Amino acid sequence: MIALKTVNLELNGPVATVYLNRPEKKNAMNPQMHRDMNQVLDTIEEDGGVKAVVITGIGDSFSAGMDLEECFLQPFDDPQLFYRTNLIALNWFKRLKAFPAVTIAKVNGFAFGGGLLVTGLCDLAVTSETALFGLSEINFGIFPAGGATWAATHNLPRKQALYYILTGDTMTGAQAQEYGLVNKAVPADQLDAETDRIVRKIVKKNPVTLELAKQVYERTTTMDLPTAIDYDQAKLWELSRLSGNEWINVALKQFEKRAYQPGLSTYNRAEVKS
Ligand code: ACO
Repeated sequence: MIALKTVNLELNGPVATVYLNRPEKKNAMNPQMHRDMNQVLDTIEEDGGVKAVVITGIGDSFSAGMDLEECFLQPFDDPQLFYRTNLIALNWFKRLKAFPAVTIAKVNGFAFGGGLLVTGLCDLAVTSETALFGLSEINFGIFPAGGATWAATHNLPRKQALYYILTGDTMTGAQAQEYGLVNKAVPADQLDAETDRIVRKIVKKNPVTLELAKQVYERTTTMDLPTAIDYDQAKLWELSRLSGNEWINVALKQFEKRAYQPGLSTYNRAEVKS
């Protein structure tokens, strides 16, 4: 366990678990937490072996969003300080969205503003049914910024995104699942087990494939079909080259021996030379 001032990082082979750790402030993200998150992402990237990153909160909150006092109120009168303070946050938000490993938000409680944003930036999300999400920015007079409107528009249907942006109402974890903001909402006592179930699936996969699958998904959302096909074909060659043709030499060889059914399970990477 690596304990920074406001974030703990647990590295366990292919799984990194990031704990937001300001429970007395509902894990509101202050400038120190933004610095710590940049450092945590550096550490995970440098590790090189991490396939899945789980982000969760200590206590009863995932995150109550940006620290409204330390990030906005206190630095506001000094434009340079305000800009630099928030740049650190915006940096790690952008990094998280493009992170090479699979990112999973494990939303254990309140997720307001920046908390909902982080949920939306992660590739996957699991929550307790009773967690509370909200875009509360309108309640203090601004619109969701720093990527939060983007997260709403890319994770919620239009009417729901606009409803929560314009009213500041909260939605439960169960509603978040219904609208597609999270993959699954479960009773609070099943949150760890459900997250572990997903993580176990991810860590069995080829890490290069996971990374390129994310790139192909993200890039092709803005492409027309011919461009997307040309792009994914080039990426497929890149994948083959980077992984020593693992899908042909290992995965499909095992299929040839009928060692597994790819429709129902994954190939065994135990024999892959790393
Ligand atoms: N920024 C700064 N401090 C915060 C934040 C925040 N975002 N959220 C909670 N805190 C502080 C509270 O002020 C309180 O501090 P205090 O003990 O010094 O008084 C402490 O955390 C505990 O919070 P309570 O309000 O006492 O906890 P409660 O369980 O009653 O309510 C709730 C939790 C609903 C999350 C409430 O704290 C709240 O509304 N927080 C603000 C949520 C929000 O609007 N976040 C900003 C989103 S917009 C953005 O991220 C850009």
